[in-house]
Amino acid sequence: MKKDTQQSWDKIMQQPFVVMKFGGTSVATAERWHTIRDLAQERVSKQERPVIVCSALSGVSNLLSTLGDAALQDEHHTILEQIEVKHRTLLNDLKLDGNWLDAALLPLKKICQGIHLLGEVTPRVQARIMSGGELLSTRIGQAFFEASGLDSQRIDIRDHLVSQDRQGAAHWLSAICNDEPDQGLVEAIQNAQVAITQGFIARNRDGETVLLGRGGSDTSAALIAAKIGATRCEIWTDVPGVYTANPRETPEARLITTLDYDEAQEIASAGAAVLHPRCIEPVKTSGIPLHIRCTPMPSALGTVISNQAPETAAVKVISARRGVGLVSMSTMGMWQQAGFLADVFGCFKQHGFSVDLVSTSETNVTASIEPDKAFKTDHNVQQLCDSLRAFCRVQYIPDCVAISLVGRHIRAIIHRLGPAFELFESEKILLVSQAASDLNLTFVVEASQAERLVQKLHVLLFGDHEDGEHLGPRWRETFDPAPARINTAWWRDAADRLLMLDVSEPTYVYDLETVSRQGKALTQLTQIKRVFYAMKANDHPQILTQIEQEGIGFEAVSRGELEHLFATLPGLLPERVLFTPNFASRDDYEHALDIGVWVNIDNVEVLEKWREIFKGHEILLRVDPGQGRGHHTHVQTGGKRSKFGITANEVPTAVKLAQHAGAIVCGLHAHVGSGVRDPEAWRSTATLLASLAEDIRTVRFINIGGGLGVVEKPGEFPLDLEIFDNSLKPIHAAHPHLEVWIEPGRFLVAESGVLLTRVTQRKRKVDRRYLGVNGGMNALIRPALYGAWHEIVNLSKHAEPAVERVTIVGPICESGDTLGYDRLLPVSEEGDVILVATAGAYGRVMSSGYNRRPMPAEIIIENRHTSAT
Ligand code: LLP
Repeated sequence: MKKDTQQSWDKIMQQPFVVMKFGGTSVATAERWHTIRDLAQERVSKQERPVIVCSALSGVSNLLSTLGDAALQDEHHTILEQIEVKHRTLLNDLKLDGNWLDAALLPLKKICQGIHLLGEVTPRVQARIMSGGELLSTRIGQAFFEASGLDSQRIDIRDHLVSQDRQGAAHWLSAICNDEPDQGLVEAIQNAQVAITQGFIARNRDGETVLLGRGGSDTSAALIAAKIGATRCEIWTDVPGVYTANPRETPEARLITTLDYDEAQEIASAGAAVLHPRCIEPVKTSGIPLHIRCTPMPSALGTVISNQAPETAAVKVISARRGVGLVSMSTMGMWQQAGFLADVFGCFKQHGFSVDLVSTSETNVTASIEPDKAFKTDHNVQQLCDSLRAFCRVQYIPDCVAISLVGRHIRAIIHRLGPAFELFESEKILLVSQAASDLNLTFVVEASQAERLVQKLHVLLFGDHEDGEHLGPRWRETFDPAPARINTAWWRDAADRLLMLDVSEPTYVYDLETVSRQGKALTQLTQIKRVFYAMKANDHPQILTQIEQEGIGFEAVSRGELEHLFATLPGLLPERVLFTPNFASRDDYEHALDIGVWVNIDNVEVLEKWREIFKGHEILLRVDPGQGRGHHTHVQTGGKRSKFGITANEVPTAVKLAQHAGAIVCGLHAHVGSGVRDPEAWRSTATLLASLAEDIRTVRFINIGGGLGVVEKPGEFPLDLEIFDNSLKPIHAAHPHLEVWIEPGRFLVAESGVLLTRVTQRKRKVDRRYLGVNGGMNALIRPALYGAWHEIVNLSKHAEPAVERVTIVGPICESGDTLGYDRLLPVSEEGDVILVATAGAYGRVMSSGYNRRPMPAEIIIENRHTSAT
């Protein structure tokens, strides 16, 4: 470097640049942009120079990722519309001129037309499409800064981040850039007090747009920080830092205030969503501290990752990585032969799978892969297994979860993990791996066990460690008072009244006003023609009556439910009832057809074998959209391995069989799962059903299922029904003749119900404190079955401070008999009434008389008076 260049470089390096990266949810609303502006201004006033790195508006990258495939079928128009609406709404909310938006969206439209003509989407084109999100968000950001009087400039980061050549699709979609100091970039960002630029995108040597991989905006921020020698790199997101476990699943998780780079790297690689694995290395090399901060709570502490973190040996995080597949390779003969491992790993390489964890024995090698992450399909996995069969016996176990304990010097603390290992006594561990780096101990287990195991491990490892110097507040404490719904729950003002009820046995109490409120929220939706209540969630007669009064129909799954429904509401018209059984008997179908309710068929064999019963009837077909969703694997009812529905490919066959049987297919149905709060989740189901319906002349409606979730844990955001409704508008516009139906259960009743139990005993054993109540998994099985989290309060002491941590257990003879782990309650005594919230759905209906305990009682609260039933 020449002397004068060196001098100016040294000068530049003294500039206190601060890189601030804002993720999708942090740039999606006007409110967040006000925060971003204030934060930038604050830094400017401290003589710092903010460089703002933005993601695309939340949801936009998802939409863009589907655009190319949709364009092949000329179905991109509604997606483009949705992208436009999101940006236009933000521009309006920020009171900015939006005239430029049409022109800015033109290149995307042209690309789509090109794809349609050429009939192909290459990774190169996909990268160009995806870059649109960040280019738009930064343009809006800069316009807002200018309008706010902030001296700012927008940089096209593709002029400065140049990628290295890579093989195949990775070259375009998972590019790698260097982190060397870059004077050109420093000079480019010096012309204004604040610079704003794009995350996620870069250019290759030929000047074409490439992407840094999903979630790559964090990496962009770290690279830029390294290139300009920033004093700090701040990652602003929607959680206040790194937690000891995923706080959305474990609200008792504690904030980790400090981490070193290696721990953070391991945590990111083990699946913590808050950090992208590739963003640590650049800041580590240059020793730049990385701060994780929370845009909705700008004053919250956050996590600092640096080389100043204390050197204590401790488990810092329990993480769970889903979607892991295990390839188990067994052989007697070849194991001792040199080259066996090289041969089998050659197969992984050949099929493009990277191996994550490996364990070996004399006769077996088990390796984990992550097919989804590698953009691989079941077919690719099958091909891999076929190649491996040349060397050994192969078994593939899909859908596993890798639970990792991450922390420095993990070997030094293995002895303390003794009780944790006991947990695995009853669970099948499929693979154990301890990283040579001494930072990670991983167990791979079946998906259905994961959530429960994480919660138990968390209690064991963090329950009583109040004093760890690197530990901050619990997620729950940070978000208390919790978001609107949990906090405004009806029972909070009804404590005195609830305490007057007879609760000698576990008792469910339901508030009809809440049912009515939820019903009205659904019947007001503009895009939904009909709502059916999935009565499996709660079939109390007064609840059914209330729901009927709201103008809502019913969805039943069994003959028993149908009979109970018509006995409760004798005048109910059959056409307000939908029957969606699964593996029901021929008699049940015949009964339903006879009484004239809508009947939903989810198996072609039924139409073939029992064809005579369908003659002259209108029926629905239940389609499996190919993917399940929901709060737990047990309730995800879509996807190749679920027992529900017929695949989209089978629909034409089913329609033909129905015609042969003399039946008419008048509706298509899909339900992908339960407990979903992503408001756009139903759009893809609707898009699929509508496009299938186009080929069936007789279809008049599509039923996009239930599954609408409610807030259960602190820190969760409620399902936004306005976004839900709006997301269906383009479908309605494209298929105006199709009615859209839904069939929610939980949404209508969950918040209306609480379970009241009484304290029987207290117990202190070893280092745990238990609170026994008179109803456990027999009264409410959701915590034991799904690891579900219900808010628990001591109603008798509701005015007293919560001071002691207890695990609330029932009287049943199983260790799973727990309502809540490690909860903070007032000092509770025998006889106190303990309330378990959000228990109106799948509570009493799933209760049992196990251990010959009485079934829980039910009480309805109406406006003034109560009536026991
Ligand atoms: N439609 C069909 C075909 C269903 O199978 C279900 C629920 C629903 C609608 C209603 O789903 P919702 O809106 O309530 O999420 N016991 C579990 C939930 C099981 C849901 C089964 N099917 C729990 O406690 O979370």
